[in-house]
Amino acid sequence: MKALILCGGFGTRLRPITHTMAKQLVPIANKPVLFYGLEAIKEAGVDDVGIVVGETSKEIIQAVGDGSPWGLNVRYIHQEQPLGLAHAVLVSEEYLAGEDFVMYLGDNLIKDGIKGLADEFRTNKPNSQILLARVKEPQRFGVAELEGGRVVRLVEKPDKPASDLALVGVYMFDGNIMDACKAIKPSGRGELEITDAIQWLIDNGLAVDPHVIDGWWKDTGRLEDMLEANRIMLETMEPACEGHVDSESRTEGTVVVEKGAEIIGSTVRGPAIIGEGTRIVNSFIGPYTSIYFGVEVVGSEIEHSIILENSRVVDIPGRIEDSLIGQNVEVGRSPLKPNAYRFMLGDNSRVGII
Ligand code: DAU
Repeated sequence: MKALILCGGFGTRLRPITHTMAKQLVPIANKPVLFYGLEAIKEAGVDDVGIVVGETSKEIIQAVGDGSPWGLNVRYIHQEQPLGLAHAVLVSEEYLAGEDFVMYLGDNLIKDGIKGLADEFRTNKPNSQILLARVKEPQRFGVAELEGGRVVRLVEKPDKPASDLALVGVYMFDGNIMDACKAIKPSGRGELEITDAIQWLIDNGLAVDPHVIDGWWKDTGRLEDMLEANRIMLETMEPACEGHVDSESRTEGTVVVEKGAEIIGSTVRGPAIIGEGTRIVNSFIGPYTSIYFGVEVVGSEIEHSIILENSRVVDIPGRIEDSLIGQNVEVGRSPLKPNAYRFMLGDNSRVGII
Protein backbone atom coordinates (compact mmCIF):
# COMPACT_ATOMS: atom_id res chain seq x y z
CA MET A 1 0.00 0.00 0.00
CA LYS A 2 1.18 3.51 -0.87
CA ALA A 3 0.19 6.89 0.55
CA LEU A 4 -0.75 10.07 -1.29
CA ILE A 5 -0.68 13.26 0.79
CA LEU A 6 -2.33 16.34 -0.68
CA CYS A 7 -0.47 19.58 -0.04
CA GLY A 8 -1.52 21.73 -2.98
CA GLY A 9 -4.26 24.35 -2.69
CA PHE A 10 -4.28 27.91 -1.42
CA GLY A 11 -5.37 27.97 2.24
CA THR A 12 -7.65 30.99 1.78
CA ARG A 13 -9.42 30.48 5.11
CA LEU A 14 -6.18 30.97 7.08
CA ARG A 15 -5.10 34.22 5.42
CA PRO A 16 -3.01 36.24 6.09
CA ILE A 17 -0.89 33.43 7.62
CA THR A 18 -1.11 31.44 4.37
CA HIS A 19 -0.09 34.44 2.24
CA THR A 20 3.43 33.54 3.28
CA MET A 21 3.33 29.86 4.24
CA ALA A 22 1.74 26.55 3.32
CA LYS A 23 -1.28 25.79 5.50
CA GLN A 24 0.00 22.23 5.98
CA LEU A 25 3.11 23.63 7.70
CA VAL A 26 1.35 25.77 10.31
CA PRO A 27 2.47 24.27 13.63
CA ILE A 28 0.09 22.67 16.12
CA ALA A 29 1.79 22.26 19.52
CA ASN A 30 5.00 23.36 17.75
CA LYS A 31 4.84 20.64 15.08
CA PRO A 32 3.65 21.26 11.51
CA VAL A 33 0.23 19.68 10.89
CA LEU A 34 1.68 17.69 7.99
CA PHE A 35 4.23 15.97 10.26
CA TYR A 36 1.41 14.38 12.30
CA GLY A 37 0.12 12.90 9.02
CA LEU A 38 3.56 11.55 8.07
CA GLU A 39 3.85 9.92 11.52
CA ALA A 40 0.38 8.38 11.22
CA ILE A 41 1.20 6.96 7.77
CA LYS A 42 4.46 5.42 8.99
CA GLU A 43 2.70 3.95 12.01
CA ALA A 44 0.12 2.38 9.65
CA GLY A 45 2.95 0.40 8.03
CA VAL A 46 3.10 2.45 4.80
CA ASP A 47 6.59 3.52 3.65
CA ASP A 48 6.09 4.93 0.14
CA VAL A 49 4.58 8.39 0.13
CA GLY A 50 3.78 10.66 -2.80
CA ILE A 51 3.16 14.29 -1.82
CA VAL A 52 1.09 16.37 -4.22
CA VAL A 53 2.45 19.92 -4.16
CA GLY A 54 1.36 23.16 -5.79
CA GLU A 55 2.44 26.75 -5.42
CA THR A 56 3.99 26.15 -1.96
CA SER A 57 6.07 23.21 -3.24
CA LYS A 58 9.43 24.75 -2.24
CA GLU A 59 8.53 25.01 1.45
CA ILE A 60 6.96 21.58 1.63
CA ILE A 61 9.98 19.97 -0.04
CA GLN A 62 12.32 21.86 2.28
CA ALA A 63 10.39 20.73 5.36
CA VAL A 64 9.95 17.05 4.46
CA GLY A 65 12.92 16.33 2.17
CA ASP A 66 13.26 12.69 1.18
CA GLY A 67 11.23 11.59 4.21
CA SER A 68 14.15 9.79 5.85
CA PRO A 69 13.64 11.39 9.31
CA TRP A 70 10.33 9.46 9.42
CA GLY A 71 11.74 6.33 7.76
CA LEU A 72 9.64 7.11 4.66
CA ASN A 73 10.47 7.24 0.94
CA VAL A 74 8.92 10.48 -0.23
CA ARG A 75 8.33 11.48 -3.87
CA TYR A 76 6.82 14.79 -4.99
CA ILE A 77 4.12 15.13 -7.61
CA HIS A 78 3.50 18.60 -9.05
CA GLN A 79 -0.06 19.75 -9.60
CA GLU A 80 0.01 22.88 -11.75
CA GLN A 81 -3.28 24.21 -10.35
CA PRO A 82 -5.53 23.12 -7.46
CA LEU A 83 -8.27 21.77 -9.66
CA GLY A 84 -9.67 19.44 -7.02
CA LEU A 85 -8.87 16.39 -4.92
CA ALA A 86 -9.78 13.99 -7.75
CA HIS A 87 -7.53 16.02 -10.08
CA ALA A 88 -4.70 15.47 -7.57
CA VAL A 89 -5.32 11.72 -7.92
CA LEU A 90 -5.24 12.00 -11.74
CA VAL A 91 -1.87 13.76 -11.76
CA SER A 92 -0.53 10.96 -9.53
CA GLU A 93 -1.51 8.13 -11.90
CA GLU A 94 2.05 7.18 -12.79
CA TYR A 95 3.17 7.23 -9.15
CA LEU A 96 0.21 5.17 -7.90
CA ALA A 97 0.61 2.56 -10.68
CA GLY A 98 -2.75 0.95 -9.92
CA GLU A 99 -1.79 0.00 -6.35
CA ASP A 100 -3.92 0.35 -3.23
CA PHE A 101 -3.31 3.66 -1.45
CA VAL A 102 -4.37 5.83 1.44
CA MET A 103 -5.09 9.43 0.47
CA TYR A 104 -4.45 11.86 3.30
CA LEU A 105 -5.33 15.57 3.14
CA GLY A 106 -2.26 17.43 4.43
CA ASP A 107 -4.30 19.83 6.59
CA ASN A 108 -6.21 17.09 8.46
CA LEU A 109 -5.31 15.87 11.93
CA ILE A 110 -6.58 12.58 13.39
CA LYS A 111 -5.59 12.22 17.01
CA ASP A 112 -5.56 8.42 17.13
CA GLY A 113 -3.76 7.93 13.82
CA ILE A 114 -4.88 5.59 11.02
CA LYS A 115 -3.27 2.24 11.81
CA GLY A 116 -6.49 0.46 12.77
CA LEU A 117 -8.26 1.90 9.73
CA ALA A 118 -5.53 0.83 7.32
CA ASP A 119 -5.54 -2.69 8.82
CA GLU A 120 -9.32 -2.86 8.38
CA PHE A 121 -8.95 -1.91 4.70
CA ARG A 122 -6.24 -4.52 4.18
CA THR A 123 -8.39 -7.22 5.81
CA ASN A 124 -11.80 -6.43 4.26
CA LYS A 125 -10.43 -5.43 0.83
CA PRO A 126 -13.27 -3.16 -0.29
CA ASN A 127 -12.66 -0.96 -3.36
CA SER A 128 -12.69 2.04 -1.08
CA GLN A 129 -12.98 2.78 2.62
CA ILE A 130 -14.14 6.22 3.69
CA LEU A 131 -13.94 7.70 7.15
CA LEU A 132 -16.86 9.63 8.56
CA ALA A 133 -17.22 11.76 11.66
CA ARG A 134 -20.25 13.40 13.24
CA VAL A 135 -19.89 17.19 13.02
CA LYS A 136 -21.87 20.28 14.01
CA GLU A 137 -21.67 22.07 10.63
CA PRO A 138 -21.88 19.34 7.98
CA GLN A 139 -22.44 21.89 5.20
CA ARG A 140 -18.70 22.73 5.44
CA PHE A 141 -17.72 19.20 4.38
CA GLY A 142 -18.49 16.31 2.06
CA VAL A 143 -21.57 14.66 3.63
CA ALA A 144 -22.56 10.97 3.55
CA GLU A 145 -26.01 9.43 3.62
CA LEU A 146 -26.09 5.88 4.97
CA GLU A 147 -28.86 3.27 4.68
CA GLY A 148 -28.56 0.07 6.67
CA GLY A 149 -24.85 0.74 7.21
CA ARG A 150 -24.16 1.17 3.45
CA VAL A 151 -23.22 4.48 1.83
CA VAL A 152 -25.92 5.49 -0.64
CA ARG A 153 -25.07 9.10 -1.37
CA LEU A 154 -22.17 11.52 -0.95
CA VAL A 155 -22.58 15.24 -1.56
CA GLU A 156 -19.83 17.87 -1.39
CA LYS A 157 -20.69 20.82 0.90
CA PRO A 158 -24.48 20.54 0.54
CA ASP A 159 -26.74 23.47 1.47
CA LYS A 160 -29.14 21.06 3.14
CA PRO A 161 -27.08 18.18 4.54
CA ALA A 162 -28.90 14.83 4.68
CA SER A 163 -26.93 13.82 7.79
CA ASP A 164 -24.28 15.08 10.21
CA LEU A 165 -21.71 12.60 8.89
CA ALA A 166 -18.79 14.46 7.34
CA LEU A 167 -16.13 12.90 5.14
CA VAL A 168 -12.85 12.93 7.03
CA GLY A 169 -9.84 13.78 4.87
CA VAL A 170 -8.43 10.25 4.88
CA TYR A 171 -9.59 7.81 2.21
CA MET A 172 -8.45 4.34 1.15
CA PHE A 173 -8.70 3.23 -2.46
CA ASP A 174 -7.80 0.47 -4.85
CA GLY A 175 -6.98 1.11 -8.52
CA ASN A 176 -10.64 1.65 -9.51
CA ILE A 177 -10.58 5.23 -8.21
CA MET A 178 -8.53 6.26 -11.25
CA ASP A 179 -11.39 5.27 -13.62
CA ALA A 180 -13.79 7.18 -11.37
CA CYS A 181 -11.63 10.34 -11.41
CA LYS A 182 -11.44 10.13 -15.21
CA ALA A 183 -15.22 9.72 -15.53
CA ILE A 184 -16.46 12.65 -13.41
CA LYS A 185 -16.96 16.29 -14.46
CA PRO A 186 -15.97 19.44 -12.50
CA SER A 187 -18.43 20.52 -9.78
CA GLY A 188 -20.20 23.86 -9.42
CA ARG A 189 -17.06 25.30 -7.76
CA GLY A 190 -15.01 24.16 -10.77
CA GLU A 191 -13.17 21.32 -9.00
CA LEU A 192 -12.96 17.61 -9.71
CA GLU A 193 -14.36 16.39 -6.40
CA ILE A 194 -13.16 13.16 -4.80
CA THR A 195 -16.65 13.01 -3.28
CA ASP A 196 -18.12 12.68 -6.81
CA ALA A 197 -15.50 10.08 -7.73
CA ILE A 198 -16.49 7.95 -4.71
CA GLN A 199 -20.18 8.38 -5.67
CA TRP A 200 -19.19 7.05 -9.12
CA LEU A 201 -17.72 3.93 -7.43
CA ILE A 202 -21.02 3.41 -5.58
CA ASP A 203 -23.11 3.98 -8.72
CA ASN A 204 -20.99 1.42 -10.57
CA GLY A 205 -21.56 -1.27 -7.95
CA LEU A 206 -18.09 -1.15 -6.35
CA ALA A 207 -17.71 -1.65 -2.60
CA VAL A 208 -17.33 1.54 -0.55
CA ASP A 209 -17.08 0.74 3.16
CA PRO A 210 -17.92 3.52 5.63
CA HIS A 211 -16.16 3.71 8.96
CA VAL A 212 -17.56 6.17 11.47
CA ILE A 213 -14.69 7.25 13.71
CA ASP A 214 -15.37 8.22 17.29
CA GLY A 215 -11.94 9.70 18.04
CA TRP A 216 -11.08 13.34 17.61
CA TRP A 217 -10.51 14.69 14.07
CA LYS A 218 -10.00 18.18 12.68
CA ASP A 219 -9.62 19.90 9.34
CA THR A 220 -7.29 22.69 10.47
CA GLY A 221 -8.35 25.13 7.75
CA ARG A 222 -9.68 27.89 10.05
CA LEU A 223 -8.33 29.77 13.08
CA GLU A 224 -10.83 28.30 15.56
CA ASP A 225 -10.05 24.78 14.31
CA MET A 226 -6.33 25.38 14.71
CA LEU A 227 -6.77 26.61 18.27
CA GLU A 228 -8.87 23.55 19.08
CA ALA A 229 -6.30 21.23 17.47
CA ASN A 230 -3.62 22.99 19.49
CA ARG A 231 -5.58 22.40 22.70
CA ILE A 232 -6.07 18.72 21.99
CA MET A 233 -2.45 18.06 21.03
CA LEU A 234 -1.03 20.05 23.97
CA GLU A 235 -3.09 17.85 26.28
CA THR A 236 -1.32 14.73 25.00
CA MET A 237 2.18 16.02 25.86
CA GLU A 238 4.43 15.04 28.74
CA PRO A 239 6.20 17.82 30.65
CA ALA A 240 9.85 18.34 29.65
CA CYS A 241 12.52 20.97 30.11
CA GLU A 242 15.54 21.31 27.82
CA GLY A 243 15.85 25.03 28.34
CA HIS A 244 16.41 27.29 31.32
CA VAL A 245 13.80 28.34 33.89
CA ASP A 246 15.24 30.87 36.34
CA SER A 247 14.57 30.81 40.10
CA GLU A 248 12.08 33.70 39.82
CA SER A 249 9.88 31.75 37.40
CA ARG A 250 7.23 29.10 37.89
CA THR A 251 5.91 26.43 35.57
CA GLU A 252 2.60 24.82 36.51
CA GLY A 253 0.91 21.79 34.92
CA THR A 254 2.23 20.30 31.69
CA VAL A 255 4.85 22.63 30.28
CA VAL A 256 7.42 21.78 27.60
CA VAL A 257 10.43 24.06 27.40
CA GLU A 258 12.39 23.26 24.26
CA LYS A 259 16.15 23.49 23.70
CA GLY A 260 17.72 26.85 24.43
CA ALA A 261 14.45 28.46 25.56
CA GLU A 262 14.62 30.80 28.56
CA ILE A 263 11.92 31.60 31.08
CA ILE A 264 12.89 34.61 33.17
CA GLY A 265 10.78 36.13 35.97
CA SER A 266 7.66 34.59 34.43
CA THR A 267 4.85 32.12 35.07
CA VAL A 268 3.97 29.49 32.48
CA ARG A 269 0.76 27.61 33.24
CA GLY A 270 0.32 24.52 31.06
CA PRO A 271 -0.54 22.85 28.95
CA ALA A 272 1.86 25.01 27.00
CA ILE A 273 4.98 24.68 24.88
CA ILE A 274 7.83 27.16 24.59
CA GLY A 275 9.91 26.67 21.42
CA GLU A 276 13.65 26.51 20.78
CA GLY A 277 15.55 29.64 21.62
CA THR A 278 12.39 31.49 22.66
CA ARG A 279 12.62 33.97 25.56
CA ILE A 280 9.76 34.62 27.98
CA VAL A 281 10.63 37.57 30.21
CA ASN A 282 8.45 39.06 33.02
CA SER A 283 5.38 37.56 31.41
CA PHE A 284 2.50 35.18 31.98
CA ILE A 285 1.88 32.36 29.51
CA GLY A 286 -1.47 30.73 30.16
CA PRO A 287 -2.96 27.33 29.27
CA TYR A 288 -3.24 26.13 25.65
CA THR A 289 -0.49 28.30 24.28
CA SER A 290 2.16 27.22 21.76
CA ILE A 291 5.05 29.55 21.17
CA TYR A 292 7.31 28.50 18.32
CA PHE A 293 11.07 29.06 17.98
CA GLY A 294 13.03 32.32 18.22
CA VAL A 295 10.15 34.27 19.77
CA GLU A 296 10.46 36.94 22.46
CA VAL A 297 7.62 37.71 24.87
CA VAL A 298 8.44 40.52 27.31
CA GLY A 299 6.14 42.08 29.91
CA SER A 300 3.00 40.54 28.40
CA GLU A 301 0.26 37.96 29.06
CA ILE A 302 -0.76 35.37 26.48
CA GLU A 303 -3.25 32.53 26.74
CA HIS A 304 -4.97 30.07 24.37
CA SER A 305 -2.93 31.22 21.39
CA ILE A 306 -0.34 30.17 18.82
CA ILE A 307 2.68 32.34 18.07
CA LEU A 308 4.85 31.48 15.08
CA GLU A 309 8.59 31.80 14.75
CA ASN A 310 10.74 34.87 15.31
CA SER A 311 7.94 37.15 16.48
CA ARG A 312 8.11 39.66 19.35
CA VAL A 313 5.41 40.63 21.81
CA VAL A 314 6.54 43.40 24.12
CA ASP A 315 4.78 45.35 26.92
CA ILE A 316 1.19 44.69 25.91
CA PRO A 317 -1.07 45.94 28.72
CA GLY A 318 -4.10 43.59 28.24
CA ARG A 319 -4.06 39.79 27.97
CA ILE A 320 -3.74 38.32 24.47
CA GLU A 321 -6.18 35.41 23.95
CA ASP A 322 -7.57 33.23 21.12
CA SER A 323 -4.92 34.55 18.75
CA LEU A 324 -2.72 33.28 15.95
CA ILE A 325 0.31 35.51 15.46
CA GLY A 326 2.34 34.86 12.30
CA GLN A 327 6.06 34.74 11.55
CA ASN A 328 8.31 37.75 12.25
CA VAL A 329 5.44 39.78 13.69
CA GLU A 330 6.10 42.66 16.11
CA VAL A 331 3.38 43.52 18.63
CA GLY A 332 4.46 46.33 20.91
CA ARG A 333 3.84 49.78 22.32
CA SER A 334 4.79 52.79 20.30
CA PRO A 335 6.90 55.55 21.95
CA LEU A 336 5.96 57.96 19.15
CA LYS A 337 3.78 61.02 19.76
CA PRO A 338 0.93 61.70 19.33
CA ASN A 339 -0.38 58.61 21.17
CA ALA A 340 -2.00 56.48 18.50
CA TYR A 341 -2.42 52.94 17.25
CA ARG A 342 0.11 52.33 14.45
CA PHE A 343 -0.43 49.23 12.33
CA MET A 344 1.20 47.54 9.42
CA LEU A 345 -1.15 44.62 8.85
CA GLY A 346 -1.14 42.15 5.96
CA ASP A 347 -4.19 41.60 3.77
CA ASN A 348 -7.01 39.76 5.55
CA SER A 349 -5.56 40.44 9.02
CA ARG A 350 -7.90 40.69 12.00
CA VAL A 351 -7.23 42.88 15.05
CA GLY A 352 -9.37 43.13 18.18
CA ILE A 353 -8.76 46.23 20.34
CA ILE A 354 -10.13 46.70 23.87
O1 DAU B 1 -11.25 18.04 5.48
C1 DAU B 1 -12.24 17.19 5.00
C2 DAU B 1 -12.87 17.76 3.74
O2 DAU B 1 -11.80 17.95 2.78
C3 DAU B 1 -13.93 16.80 3.18
O3 DAU B 1 -15.05 16.71 4.04
C4 DAU B 1 -14.41 17.28 1.81
O4 DAU B 1 -15.30 16.36 1.26
C5 DAU B 1 -13.21 17.46 0.88
O5 DAU B 1 -13.60 17.97 -0.40
C6 DAU B 1 -12.18 18.39 1.49
O6 DAU B 1 -12.76 19.69 1.54
P1 DAU B 1 -11.93 21.05 1.68
O7 DAU B 1 -12.68 22.14 1.02
O8 DAU B 1 -11.57 21.24 3.12
O9 DAU B 1 -10.61 20.76 0.85
P2 DAU B 1 -9.39 21.74 0.64
O10 DAU B 1 -9.62 22.55 -0.58
O11 DAU B 1 -9.09 22.44 1.93
O12 DAU B 1 -8.20 20.75 0.33
C7 DAU B 1 -7.82 19.72 1.22
C8 DAU B 1 -6.31 19.45 1.07
O13 DAU B 1 -5.98 19.05 -0.26
C9 DAU B 1 -5.43 20.64 1.40
O14 DAU B 1 -4.29 20.17 2.10
C10 DAU B 1 -5.05 21.19 0.03
C11 DAU B 1 -5.03 19.95 -0.84
N1 DAU B 1 -5.41 20.16 -2.27
C12 DAU B 1 -6.63 20.74 -2.52
C13 DAU B 1 -7.05 20.91 -3.82
C14 DAU B 1 -8.39 21.52 -4.14
C15 DAU B 1 -4.59 19.74 -3.28
O15 DAU B 1 -3.47 19.22 -3.02
N2 DAU B 1 -4.99 19.92 -4.58
C16 DAU B 1 -6.19 20.49 -4.91
O16 DAU B 1 -6.50 20.61 -6.12
